[in-house]
Amino acid sequence: MKADLRARLREATGEAHARMHTHPGFAAAASGRISTRDYRDLLARLHGFHRGFEAHFDSAPAAMAQAIALPARRRSAALAEDLRALGLQDIEALPLWPAQVALESEPQWLGALYVTEGATLGGAAISRALAEAGFGAAQRRFFEGYGAERSPMWRSFLARLERHADDPEAAAAQTAAEATFSAFEAWMRDWRGASGPEHGRNRLDQVELL
Ligand code: HEM
Repeated sequence: MKADLRARLREATGEAHARMHTHPGFAAAASGRISTRDYRDLLARLHGFHRGFEAHFDSAPAAMAQAIALPARRRSAALAEDLRALGLQDIEALPLWPAQVALESEPQWLGALYVTEGATLGGAAISRALAEAGFGAAQRRFFEGYGAERSPMWRSFLARLERHADDPEAAAAQTAAEATFSAFEAWMRDWRGASGPEHGRNRLDQVELL
């Protein structure tokens, strides 16, 4: 029996994950010291990533999609709601991630999903920090994620992932996880100004100054 696949993915993507902690937007959110403008820009960019990724969900392998309740793992609607609660109206105008990761076999899908599903674990801590910074529940639905369902959702994802631990195609899961982290990192580099220069900024900035 090989080492569990999750451990292999964690090891392979550890450095990329650590770099996320130094991304100025995530670091600020995790510290609970983030301006409304930066928070909105961060969410706008995340929205583009998740919408672009989810655009492929309907073509995911059917048995896997059913086993892990893939439709319930869509997170872009929560991002859109957060953005609206922060005053951004024109969500449809935000750019979408063009999904530059191969998403064909089940191991490839699970490798990519490892990145977005794993992020829900750290998201819980970020949501707490944002709450302390004064952001209401309606503004942090994305980072709150599955809420009370967080552990069951993660466990059901892992159960499907581990079916591939001894699969000759397991390496494809690792490649997809690494590629997804890289693509995510590249996409999130251009996050400042992502919610646009004129999207109600003045009004929100005035609120911040009060
Ligand atoms: C400042 C930002 C972040 C912080 C503070 C953070 C924190 C954490 C923490 C504490 C865990 C472990 C939770 C647990 O085991 O219960 C975790 C897991 C994970 N995070 Fe993050 N995270 C951040 C950003 C991200 C981002 C942006 C991504 C990907 C897009 C990501 C992907 C993952 C993955 C894949 C795991 C699962 C690792 C495993 O297999 O155990 N994280 N994160």
